[in-house]
Amino acid sequence: MWIIGLALIASTAIASGAEEEVANANSRLLDNILSYVDTEVNACDDYFGHACGKYAKKHLEDSFSEIVSMVDHKVNQDLLTLMLELEQRAQQPDFDATSVEAKVWSFYRTCRNASIDSRSGRSYLTFVPPDEGLTWPQLTRPAGRAWPKDRFKWLQTLARLHRYGDVNILMTVFIKSWPNNSSDYVMDFSMPSLEEREKRLMPFMETMQVLGILGVPRASAFALTKKLKSLETALINLIDEDDDDTDGQHMTVRQLQRRTGADWQKFVELLLGEDISPEFRVNVQSLGYFKALVRLLDEKDPGVVASYMMTRLMLYLWQETMDSPEPIECIKDVRRTMNLAANLLYKERFLSSAGHLHRQSASVVQLFDQLRRQFLRIVQRNRLRLSRSQRGMIRRKVNDMVLNIGNMPQHIDQRRFVSQHYASLDVSATTLDYSRSHLKLLEFRTRQLMEKLKHSPHRANEYFYIADSMTAMSSSAFYMFRQNVIVIPYGLLQEPVFLPDSHDVFRFSLLGFILAHELMHAFDGLGVRYDAQGNLSEMGQQIGSSSQFEAGLECFNHNETDYLNERVADIDGIRLAYEAYFGGGAEESPQNRTRPDFTTMPMERLFFLNLAQFFCGNGDSSNFVEHDADRVRLKQTLTNFAAFNEAFNCPTQRATERCQLW
Ligand SMILES: *[C@@H]1O[C@H](CO)[C@@H](O)[C@H](O)[C@H]1NC(C)=O
Ligand SMILES: *[C@@H]1O[C@H](CO)[C@@H](O)[C@H](O)[C@H]1NC(C)=O
Ligand SMILES: *[C@@H]1O[C@H](CO)[C@@H](O)[C@H](O)[C@H]1NC(C)=O
Ligand SMILES: *[C@@H]1O[C@H](CO)[C@@H](O)[C@H](O)[C@H]1NC(C)=O
Ligand SMILES: *[C@@H]1O[C@H](CO)[C@@H](O)[C@H](O)[C@H]1NC(C)=O
Ligand SMILES: *[C@@H]1O[C@H](CO)[C@@H](O)[C@H](O)[C@H]1NC(C)=O
Ligand SMILES: [Zn+2]
Repeated sequence: MWIIGLALIASTAIASGAEEEVANANSRLLDNILSYVDTEVNACDDYFGHACGKYAKKHLEDSFSEIVSMVDHKVNQDLLTLMLELEQRAQQPDFDATSVEAKVWSFYRTCRNASIDSRSGRSYLTFVPPDEGLTWPQLTRPAGRAWPKDRFKWLQTLARLHRYGDVNILMTVFIKSWPNNSSDYVMDFSMPSLEEREKRLMPFMETMQVLGILGVPRASAFALTKKLKSLETALINLIDEDDDDTDGQHMTVRQLQRRTGADWQKFVELLLGEDISPEFRVNVQSLGYFKALVRLLDEKDPGVVASYMMTRLMLYLWQETMDSPEPIECIKDVRRTMNLAANLLYKERFLSSAGHLHRQSASVVQLFDQLRRQFLRIVQRNRLRLSRSQRGMIRRKVNDMVLNIGNMPQHIDQRRFVSQHYASLDVSATTLDYSRSHLKLLEFRTRQLMEKLKHSPHRANEYFYIADSMTAMSSSAFYMFRQNVIVIPYGLLQEPVFLPDSHDVFRFSLLGFILAHELMHAFDGLGVRYDAQGNLSEMGQQIGSSSQFEAGLECFNHNETDYLNERVADIDGIRLAYEAYFGGGAEESPQNRTRPDFTTMPMERLFFLNLAQFFCGNGDSSNFVEHDADRVRLKQTLTNFAAFNEAFNCPTQRATERCQLW
């Protein structure tokens, strides 16, 4: 079916002519930009209001709230089309049941058609018992029979629960690389994060309701809730008491066992699903917390400890699912739990045809090279007064930086790689049991993360980021400072973010800015401390602690922000993108600055209006995670930027200076 569709699209493209298509694309982009502009609002007083003023009205009915969620929505719609095609293909006799398609289709189908009952908390809990042959207290049958509490080993149960991901129960387990060697991984234990309210148990009444849903009899829910709350308070106190601020201690599980009195070897074995030696090394942050934790839990009533862990597990699992059989929600479920597969299928179906992806990638790489070259010129100007060898380190780092398009291993047979990746995953849909399939996928992802302990994914070409659920569902670009890699999700390679053949002023001002922002993260307050290979570097530390660098950071923080490095990436990033486009001679910067024929608007204005597309939105403030709100970001990004003031004839405020780091 879809082959016919493609042929149609291809032939219309040829018929209308490439030139005309480019002209159309430019006009479309321009029209879209102008449709958000509110001319009643003065650009100098309130640029967000000016450039984005009509966004809310235009998108009142839409399920997305800004440009990245908009392209995400398009990705989801496309994947939905793919699912309809898979439904047809799955009925053909030659459909390969072991293929990536079959696995994706199987989970999607389970999500769509599984019974409500198989999504319930109680269903999840039957698949994740506290131990083999042991049920959770409230699920013990026949009801009224005593729960065999002496069979409950809390540390072993804890290991079983941590197999489902970053569950944040009683502790955090990460696989991380050493600061001094980015390809040397270790299992890291730290305290759970209970600082933010959302990470704790819910308020009293809601927790009681949750217990009810999970089958705790009404008569005992009140008393149990009280005990769970008090256990969590005790944990929070342990965390508060801990004043260990070191990077942790490297030790063997045998040593950890001796110092805490708990069986950590068994814990790691259950977590990894294989035997380890007592000399297995872990990194333990806040050893004091772990000693106190063992003491605390050994004393508590096992039934309460079990119920606490069970409740926390369910809160985590509910966060990890869209919990809906609606097609679009099931697509999101697929993206968040089978990210690599979703990326591959999206690429093959929607990008690879007729050399489309190749053209896109070449255009992105060319754009990035321009930014890279401009950054080298900035380093050459040497505002930070770096020594020759320090500049050498910075140059090496920007030269070695790798673009990863689509969060896929690059330059290898991707289909083969992805098939092998999922080879051991069995999610057949015969039983249509949602919780069972979901748990399998979560467990699978954790296992893949743990694999890093055995072999380093840094091996050239095989690198991709095993994304957490939120990252996996989003088309936001990100920089991985331990890999020196910028990840550009496929979703960004489409209108209105990016069209490879559009005018350069569009390319540089939006995706160019996004790339420049990510590039600058390599040289912000944190990134600069790591070298080209992602290793903590003596020289990088010196640069980061120099008085010029610190003064630069301080300037950015005059208007205080919790996200200083984001501000660095925004402010130095816009300058980088702007200079890469407008600066330099024709010979060092081949970009097209020819006045376009689709508008009479000055190029500089067009540049800043298209930049604003990244920030325009109508989401509420809770949408902004680890960043300032978009309105604040746009303002901070452009305040006192001379080129912006000129473009819009804004008066310069002499009282305040433009901050600049590099
Ligand atoms: C779900 O079940 C219905 C009815 O049995 C069937 O028609 C439909 O194709 C199924 N949908 C999927 C996605 O499997
Ligand atoms: C890196 O750090 C670890 C832990 O601090 C140490 O054991 C190791 O020797 C260091 N390696 C190098 C190459 O400096
Ligand atoms: C830095 O990291 C690379 C790649 O991860 C590693 O191979 C190398 O040994 C490290 N260098 C040092 C000096 O530790
Ligand atoms: C870094 O770690 C890798 C993987 O464990 C190892 O092969 C390499 O020798 C290490 N490099 C240094 C400098 O220690
Ligand atoms: C530069 O842009 C102009 C206006 O859009 C276009 O006519 C011209 O062909 C472009 N030049 C190059 C070298 O791409
Ligand atoms: C800081 O920025 C916010 C938002 O842009 C603005 O409302 C506020 O006036 C600024 N404060 C200072 C001291 O510049
Ligand atoms: Zn950022």
